[in-house]
Amino acid sequence: MLTIENLSAGYGKVQVLHGISLEVAKGTLVTLIGSNGAGKTTTLRALSGMIAPTSGRIMLGGTDIAGLASHDIARRGLAHSPEGRRVFATLSVADNLLLGSFSRLTGSRPKGDVASDLDRMYTLFPRLAERRTQYAGTLSGGEQQMLAMARALMLAPDVLLLDEPSMGLAPKLVAEVFATIALLRDNQVTMLLVEQFAAAALDVADIGYVLENGRVTASGPAAALKTDPAVQAAYLGAAHG
Ligand SMILES: Nc1ncnc2c1ncn2[C@@H]1O[C@H](COP(=O)(O)OP(=O)(O)O)[C@@H](O)[C@H]1O
Ligand SMILES: [Mg+2]
Repeated sequence: MLTIENLSAGYGKVQVLHGISLEVAKGTLVTLIGSNGAGKTTTLRALSGMIAPTSGRIMLGGTDIAGLASHDIARRGLAHSPEGRRVFATLSVADNLLLGSFSRLTGSRPKGDVASDLDRMYTLFPRLAERRTQYAGTLSGGEQQMLAMARALMLAPDVLLLDEPSMGLAPKLVAEVFATIALLRDNQVTMLLVEQFAAAALDVADIGYVLENGRVTASGPAAALKTDPAVQAAYLGAAHG
């Protein structure tokens, strides 16, 4: 579904990603783990067109999307729930969700039924249903994270990119967010999940990749990575939860 080959990217003269390759098969949940500053967010930004890769290929379906504009990439079915959530604070919950469907209405993919997808989001995220007329800025951190995920899903994406959905949330809400991700996985939503919270990410994922200083240093079935001594020492110690 999404195949990344030798992707390099950075900011100006600073190269952050040094030729990473990664595969997200249809209907699987892949997690990219790594320390703060490893380049996880940069990877997702390059995939969704927020920054232009300097080299490499990003195959979505059969098309190389590397270097396309972000609105074009969204139209082709790649949704990005960004780090820090970035909901539109002065718009209602409902309007945030409808904005998530905008790109699919202008693209050539099947448009589907936005109203019934909106209902589906309210079923999946009951708290958003209760708060549908509220300004997004008045939601709690956990609720804003749910909204960011639901907004991305309103694209009816072929692949969903999730950047640190647990960031800044209380433990109870982290558990809720991961339960929702597990539910999406069970519904065969194809996802690339970036997390610093490696143990939880490997528990929920099918496949894992470890990113260190802009390079993939380990990959494999998530369960195998979880028992890999090197991965345990670096990412699964007590300090990493
Ligand atoms: N907008 C930016 N401009 C310049 N450097 C950046 C920018 N964003 C991130 N970086 C640098 O890129 C590196 C990787 O950052 P990032 O992808 O955010 O890591 P992660 O998400 O794994 O914590 C870091 O050294 C960071 O300082
Ligand atoms: Mg990050």
